[in-house]
Amino acid sequence: MAISNDEFRAALSRFPSGVTVVTTKDADGRLHGITVSAFCSLSLEPPLILICVEKIAGSHYALCESKAFVVNILNSQQIGLSEQFASPDPDKFDGVSFRTGIDGVPVIDGVVASLECRLKRICDGGDHTIFIGEVKNVSIIDGYPLVYSQSTYWTISETPQDF
Ligand SMILES: Cc1cc2nc3c(=O)[nH]c(=O)nc-3n(C[C@H](O)[C@H](O)[C@H](O)COP(=O)(O)O)c2cc1C
Repeated sequence: MAISNDEFRAALSRFPSGVTVVTTKDADGRLHGITVSAFCSLSLEPPLILICVEKIAGSHYALCESKAFVVNILNSQQIGLSEQFASPDPDKFDGVSFRTGIDGVPVIDGVVASLECRLKRICDGGDHTIFIGEVKNVSIIDGYPLVYSQSTYWTISETPQDF
């Protein structure tokens, strides 16, 4: 029996994730950014990560034609940035402070970590595309990551558990 879209979404929403803003630059030099929770590590040697982006997203074409992108891992105070980059606003970088990283792609200030990636491979993933990036540079600062689960933002406040 086929599962419904609602069942599929409900099951997956039980799996907490971090929240990232993936930034890139299209062939005309326009900056793009999109909130992405579908991010994970893939390989240590070489250092690879992957992100999944919906094919109908406005920034999808830019990721396809760009040779580089940056995964900015948001901190627990950056819900506003998550919402800003999840909106259809044409000027998503309004009020956002950043420096330029690999190939001039924005690295957002204050994020707990940023991974500057060279696009390695593009794979089909149903209604999403899987972008595999080779990590060329990382920056890390102290802080707690923002967490997303069951359509809600969470912060890590529990004491780490012994095991
Ligand atoms: C917390 C959160 C996580 C998201 N994760 C993803 C994701 O992993 N992949 C994706 O394609 N869209 C994801 N989205 C939706 C996009 O951010 C949203 O569709 C955005 O408007 C796309 O921007 P664009 O059309 O300018 O590219 C997420 C949104 C939120 C709020």
